[in-house]
Amino acid sequence: MTARILDGNALAAKVREDIATNARTLTEQGTQPCLAVILVGENPASAVYVRNKVAACEKAGFRSLKFTFAVDVAPEVVFAKIAELNADPGVHGILVQLPLPKHFNEDQVLEAISPAKDVDGFHAENLGLLLQGRKSFYPCTPWGVMKMLESENVQIKGAEAVVIGRSNIVGKPMAVMLLSQGATVTVCHSQTKDLAFHTRRADIVVAAVGKPKFLTGDMIKPGAVVIDVGINRLDDGKLAGDVDFDSAKEVAGLITPVPGGVGPMTITMLLANTLESAKRTAG
Ligand code: GUN
Repeated sequence: MTARILDGNALAAKVREDIATNARTLTEQGTQPCLAVILVGENPASAVYVRNKVAACEKAGFRSLKFTFAVDVAPEVVFAKIAELNADPGVHGILVQLPLPKHFNEDQVLEAISPAKDVDGFHAENLGLLLQGRKSFYPCTPWGVMKMLESENVQIKGAEAVVIGRSNIVGKPMAVMLLSQGATVTVCHSQTKDLAFHTRRADIVVAAVGKPKFLTGDMIKPGAVVIDVGINRLDDGKLAGDVDFDSAKEVAGLITPVPGGVGPMTITMLLANTLESAKRTAG
């Protein structure tokens, strides 16, 4: 059997069209959605992500502001910029690209962003609301995964779901979202003793570990839904996910590719959160 491929680019294009239509209406009513992005240092991957986010804003008819700081900038300078953006009613979303240089305390930076403008969904308040099943800004990558599952009518209620990875920005919120939709969720990580034991039982596997081609076909239950969150740069410059696509697609029922899977949905959900924030301020 060969898996059906879940095309993230196609779904993202559809959702972004909707977002752009909404943004146009809101702009005509006097509120143009606006995302402010802060980039510190010269991490090349971060620079690409930020460029893609700014381009996506412009394509959707949003205003975008980009602030770049040298790698050795004093944290107070960045905190002052965040405070200024928090106070600016024309700014609806604030995003500080991670990772930050070592002399920053990332938690403190994320906490400095007003929860009402935390369109990444990384603030402790928003993560807490998510945990309690209350309305918040959801972290974009796991929320994008939920949208992908929904678009394919994947049955989540009662499903065995395995999330590999326990980061604050993907693994943990992913597990909570699947749980809140009725899945039985297992979270695996680097200390898990027998990973394949868990993944072979899973109806839905989400891989978010950052190890290229790590989840192979023999670790997957026939017909399972396999979602690959990994974006790993190989020595030859090519991108690979956490899933060994070639072997996994022979076993899975539905699978996301890398690139062109979860990645485009992450930015799409960032736009969705920014639009939502703008709508809230517009009343
Ligand atoms: N670094 C890697 N992914 C992300 C993301 O989704 N948001 C931010 N702010 N930084 C990141």
